[in-house]
Amino acid sequence: MSFNERTYIMVKPDGVQRGLVGKIIARFEERGFKLIALKLVQATEEHLEKHYADLKGKPFFPGLVKYMASGPVVGMVWQGLDAVKTGRAMLGATNPLASVPGTIRGDYALSVGRNICHGSDAVESAEKEIALWFPEGVAQYTQAQESWIFS
Ligand code: PPS
Repeated sequence: MSFNERTYIMVKPDGVQRGLVGKIIARFEERGFKLIALKLVQATEEHLEKHYADLKGKPFFPGLVKYMASGPVVGMVWQGLDAVKTGRAMLGATNPLASVPGTIRGDYALSVGRNICHGSDAVESAEKEIALWFPEGVAQYTQAQESWIFS
């Protein structure tokens, strides 16, 4: 259990195109996570190949990279208690067919090839993804800001 765990959440091009960015942000805010980085970016295939490096041998890899490069994505870093596991639970199963209603994919997606949103699957991958997408760093809240927000 970690109180200050960080996870990388990314609204994919289909989520941006469908106007779901605000709804996804609202879910993380309302759950109690703290936003510490956010950007809209048109990623290159080269950058996406780094992000999905572990999947390089998979048959769907080229299609996944093309889809992810087909429009802007919104990358975010959310911080809070067990952010990685809770973030994944909020997303729902990778295949929307198995995602229960109430999850992001269970409410908004139908196909694994257009599943709206990415979330880090482990603390180590979250740290790698945060470094890849936010090399400039993330927000640091001061002690005073922390207590104002959470007291
Ligand atoms: S695997 O095979 O178990 O390693 O893959 P999985 O963990 O289920 O998914 C890893 C990411 O690949 C995406 N994915 C796909 N994209 C397009 N088409 C197909 N068929 C497909 N299958 C899996 C899946 O959405 C995961 O992406 P992220 O961005 O992590 O959600």
